Amino acid sequence: MSKQTWLTGITTSGTPHLGNYVGAIRPAVEASRNAEHEGFYFLADYHAMIKNQDPGLLRQSRQEISAAWIALGLDTDHATFYRQSDIPEIMELTWMLTCLTAKGLMNRAHAYKAVVQENVVSEAADPDKGITMGLFSYPILMSADILMFKATHVPVGRDQIQHLEMARDIAQRFNHHYGDLFVLPQVVVEERASVLAGLDGRKMSKSYGNTIPLFDTAKKLRKSIMKIKTNSQEPGEPKDPDGNTVFEIYRAFATDEQTAQMRDAFAAGIGWGDAKQRLFELVDAVLSEPRERYNELMADPAQVDTILAHGAEKARETSRPYLQQLREAVGIA
Ligand code: TRP
Repeated sequence: MSKQTWLTGITTSGTPHLGNYVGAIRPAVEASRNAEHEGFYFLADYHAMIKNQDPGLLRQSRQEISAAWIALGLDTDHATFYRQSDIPEIMELTWMLTCLTAKGLMNRAHAYKAVVQENVVSEAADPDKGITMGLFSYPILMSADILMFKATHVPVGRDQIQHLEMARDIAQRFNHHYGDLFVLPQVVVEERASVLAGLDGRKMSKSYGNTIPLFDTAKKLRKSIMKIKTNSQEPGEPKDPDGNTVFEIYRAFATDEQTAQMRDAFAAGIGWGDAKQRLFELVDAVLSEPRERYNELMADPAQVDTILAHGAEKARETSRPYLQQLREAVGIA
């Protein structure tokens, strides 16, 4: 079997939080160290622009997210780490794909349909109110990201499965028309990289405002953890760990042995304050070293830029000649 190529994009919106770490960063860092794969990890900053048209915020988020990934151990020597916007071939490929993509296929995208549905419910005069072509064409840009590097495996969250199906559809249509030029990517849904609950027990997400930032100071981290919503059970009362936010976050950071001990502590009636203190100590121990590195990188953005520029150069060794081949295939060489 030929070598697998793993690729995934990180939309540069918001400040990285514990949920991002458990759901996306940690599995990607592990995968980036796997010598059997070739890995491409990139900052999807043009995707971020669809929802974020504030230049200051976009810049800030791009910097925080790239520093976070590096600080948490992404292997940038083995894997290729770059900004989408540094690869002009992706934009060029996006147009080629756009010319081959059926509008009807995009009409079926869940993300687009959800906005239309909101407009219909709120009886807006135009069902497409507030929808840009960027949002509508989102899956095409994502397909270009993937097809550009002949990715065979694309790890994503469940909400992205449809986009992968669309990428395959678009690739197949192109291949049918111009010859077998694209590799069909396969989706990898990380089952173990579970969804982390946030402060209020719902999924930890920027849109719910219930996140715990990854790289606050230890003091602020402790304060956030103390805010996790719990019930009114008293110390001494046995507590049910399953589905409990404190326990679930603990488990996401703990070894099996630590998890078993925490389970026992719940059964023995540990108080919420003590349970949260243990959670804080565990998370802080995992994050304290990366936090130092993160602060160092945030203070010296040139370090990050150098890594990303190197990544872009490496990525373009693939994308440049490949795009040339595609141009020839479509008759624009
Ligand atoms: N749409 C993805 C997300 O929101 C991010 C992304 C952009 C991506 N391009 C990609 C993921 C290519 C995988 C492959 O999570």
